[in-house]
Formats: sequence, structure tokens, C-alpha cells
Amino acid sequence: MRRDPLAYLTAELTTLKEQGLYRKLRILEDEQKPKTTFDHRSVVNLSSNNYLGLTTHPRLRERALEATRKYGVGTGSVRTIAGTMDIHMELERRLAEFKQTEAVVVFQSGFAANAGTVSAVLGKDDVVVSDELNHASIIDGCRLSRAAIKVFPHKDVDAARRILQSLPAGQRKLLITDGVFSMEGDLGPLPALCDLAEEFGCIMMVDDAHASGVFGKNGRGTIDHFGVHGRVDIQVGTLSKAIGVLGGYVAGTRSLIEFLYHRARPFLFSTSHPPGVAAACIAAIDVLMEEPHIIERLWENTRFFQAGLTSLGFDTGVSEGPITPVIVGDGALAMKLSDDLFQSGVFAQGIAFPTVAAGKARVRTIVTATHTRDELQFALDAFAKVGKELGILR
Ligand SMILES: Cc1ncc(COP(=O)(O)O)c(C=O)c1O
Repeated sequence: MRRDPLAYLTAELTTLKEQGLYRKLRILEDEQKPKTTFDHRSVVNLSSNNYLGLTTHPRLRERALEATRKYGVGTGSVRTIAGTMDIHMELERRLAEFKQTEAVVVFQSGFAANAGTVSAVLGKDDVVVSDELNHASIIDGCRLSRAAIKVFPHKDVDAARRILQSLPAGQRKLLITDGVFSMEGDLGPLPALCDLAEEFGCIMMVDDAHASGVFGKNGRGTIDHFGVHGRVDIQVGTLSKAIGVLGGYVAGTRSLIEFLYHRARPFLFSTSHPPGVAAACIAAIDVLMEEPHIIERLWENTRFFQAGLTSLGFDTGVSEGPITPVIVGDGALAMKLSDDLFQSGVFAQGIAFPTVAAGKARVRTIVTATHTRDELQFALDAFAKVGKELGILR
């Protein structure tokens, strides 16, 4: 009989099960909403990145349907051959206007935008100076570029400076940070990093995946929030989170974007977005511009929920926005907290090593603009009950 050459994978899964870290995919049986059904259970959903509720917004739904009727369901090609429709160009124009940059290129995902951009703009003689908590897609882009990777401790601008001081003046350098860190919910120190980038002649890049639609005027992101327009050379955003659809984009100068059209491998070698996706994203920008009260509502809900968690006595870390971790330390305890919350009608994902550092396991919560106060209070009551049962709260 043939020996299974992948048997070692089964062994690794067994180890995960023994450690209490094995995760079953939760199945969503309804729309992505604040109260919805996963695995046959009705739950308050604190696990989606659907910050503004746009996944089900009628304007997006309608525009996606219209575009699907007009153009069909797919594009049949990569952007650089036959897969660029006028609707893709319109989306890029609208995003550039929104981000106040010369131009934008849209990728199939935020992951592809980060990985494809870093690997295109850098080569083996270059160096990346990167926050230790930057997203996996940045890390993969750095590895693909073959540039040297120098990591500084989270938000430690002095440490980043020491790294830059130690590098040859003539070497090409990319200084890169997340705008909002996806596991902590805190903000990158953009003004201080922009100062450093200018002092040392670095390319400055910010991944604003969790900030677009959330921070800044009309949700323009952390560049707008910190008032550093014109000081960040490469801005990455995603269309998959607050925008409610799918995709990623890079905003910057016209020459950066044209270079990426020619050299970013996910752009060159992977089929473009279905027209319905592009159309829904354009409608989302309309919503951000015309219905900013949705963003205000997100912030009101964030303040209410965070205040509730901290007054119960949970460790919510250093969050500065709608992502609020409930840090419990031990990985198995985080998974148990998540599972027991689920049984009590609240879905908040447990996150452990290697997604976060060992000893920093947590349940991650994300409130949205569309949660009602009753739903958030229900979730707080469940956290209080399960937190006491598990001995996390006294
Ligand atoms: C900080 C950050 N950057 C990039 C991405 C990737 O975005 P997308 O889901 O559009 O691929 C994510 C999503 O998990 C993220 O959290």
C-alpha cells in the first residue's frame, strides 16, 4: 500500500487538538450581519470586519446586481490582457479621489496588494524596516522581495531609528507599518515614522486595511486621521473590510501605480475582479461620502462596548478603535472563552499563537455601526457570565 507522504500533517493536527488549539471553521448560514446564524445558532456577531454594515447595504447590493446584469459575472482575463473593464478604471479613479492621491491600482485582495507591492518595489540589495506586528501579507511581500528584513519592536520609533542609523546611507530602504494593527486595534505612530522616513530618505508605506472607512474624514484612513497627506509614498487599503466587498488597492503617485501595472505579480498573473465587485465598491465610496453618520455610529458603539468590557475588569490591551481584544494569556483558555461565549449566543473569535505572541492569547471583538445597543449589552452580559465561570473575572 502507498505510504501517505502527507502523514506529518495529520500528526501536526493531532498536536493542535491536544493543545486545545484546533479550530473548526464556523459556518455562516445567513447574511454577514451583527446578529446572525453560525452553525445553526443565532449569535451576536463580534467577529466580522464588516465595520459599517456595508456587506448588506441596499445601495451596494443594487449596484452589484446592475453591473452583473450589464457585464456578466466574470471578466475572463487578467487586467493586463483583456480583463480591464471601464468599471475597474472608474473604481480606481474614485479611490484616488477618495485617498487624495494621483492614482490607485486595485488588486484582488488586500493580501495581494501588500505582498505584490513590497515584492515589486524592492529587490535583494534593499532593506525593509518593519514593525514586529505588521500583517502577514507584508511579511510575505518582504520575503518575496528578497530584501533584508529588519524588524523593530511594536511602535518603537527609537528602535527603528537605531536600525536606520546602522544602515549604509546609499541603500534603498522601505519603512513600513500597519495603520491599525489587526490584533491589538492600536494605531501605527505615523507622524514620527514619517519624520524618520524623511530624515533617512526611506520609502514610507502604510497598510491601512483596518483604517479605511473607520478613521479620518469620511473614513479616509490613518493618513487623514494624522494629517500626513503627501508624506506616505505607498498607501495600501482593502475593499474587504469596512468597504464590505472584496479587494485591496495601492494609492500613490501616477508613476508608482504605472510601475505596479507592469511589475506587481498578482496584478499581472491573476484574473481581475468580477464587475459586480467593482460596482459594489464604487457604491461603497458613495456611501462613505454621503452617509458619514454610519461612521459616527460605529464610533459610538465602539466607545460603549469598550467602556463596558473595561468596567467588567477585562484586559483590553491598547485598542484605539473598534477592534478590542480581551486578552487572557493562555491559548487554550482563549479558545474556551470563545467556545463558551458561543454557547451563550456571542461569536467572538479566539486567537492564539502563532497569530499573536505566545502568552498573549485573546478573544478578539469587533463592533460594527449596525449593532444595536441591546445586542452589545447582551454580549457584555455574556462576557461577564463566562468570564466569571472561567475565573478570568473575579
Ligand atoms: C492589516 C491587514 N492588512 C491586510 C489584510 C488583507 O486584506 P484582505 O482581507 O483584503 O486580503 C488584512 C486582513 O486580514 C489585515 O488585517
